[in-house]
Amino acid sequence: MNFHILTLFPEMILQGLNTSIIGRAMEKGLISVNAVNIRDYSEDKHKRVDDYPYGGGAGMVIQAEPVYKAYGYLANHIKLSKPEKDQPKKPRVIYVTPQGSIFNQTMAQELSREEDLIFLCGHYEGIDERVLEMVVTDYISIGDYVLTGGELPAMVMIDAISRLIPGVLNNEASSEFESFQDNLLEYPQYTRPENFMGRKVPEVLLSGHHAKIEAWRRQQSILRTFERRPDLLEEANLTEEDREYLTRLIFQKNIDIY
Ligand code: ADE
Repeated sequence: MNFHILTLFPEMILQGLNTSIIGRAMEKGLISVNAVNIRDYSEDKHKRVDDYPYGGGAGMVIQAEPVYKAYGYLANHIKLSKPEKDQPKKPRVIYVTPQGSIFNQTMAQELSREEDLIFLCGHYEGIDERVLEMVVTDYISIGDYVLTGGELPAMVMIDAISRLIPGVLNNEASSEFESFQDNLLEYPQYTRPENFMGRKVPEVLLSGHHAKIEAWRRQQSILRTFERRPDLLEEANLTEEDREYLTRLIFQKNIDIY
């Protein structure tokens, strides 16, 4: 997977992603991160890329031209990097904006199947609408709050997508059994010591009885989702047994309330 980021702060992206698991994935050649500075495509002698908004109002707006040129360079670079005979479709261009659809695990999974992804990061009051209409394919937000720029959201998405690419996580299984798989939160985890300041590891985990451990973990996932993210349960893939357990939880909660 090749990530390309159109940004005014390329060093922020490169520094943010070159450590730990994602840094190692880059070293192993499983992913690449190419940060393109929009400012390099400014024709202005002071390399300015922003101007006042038409119609007035606070803040500055990033101009269409440097963004369009940076995109054009990048699209051409991607095209030239592939053999003539198997030219891929045009890469998706994600504009990271609080006005987009909210990013989630299903979107991460879908995006992880692309070969190239372009992220466009805004700053200030945003980017001239015309260039967005011309190049953007997806508008994505990372949540209902406003950040100072698109770089952190782009890094969040790149991290979530990268860990789904085969070979990025050491343990293949660990990206499967985790939070949001089946729309359930992950069960609690414990490691040594068995007793930490009087708090003991649940007995069943020491039993070596795999079926019992599985069953306990499943119930813990349901309990945790019920307590912390009940909204997820509507879409969860529950068996008959899971549903019985959930019904008991709901019943118990009602007893606790009254
Ligand atoms: N830019 C500023 N805030 C953002 C958010 N919440 N998500 C994506 N891009 C943003």
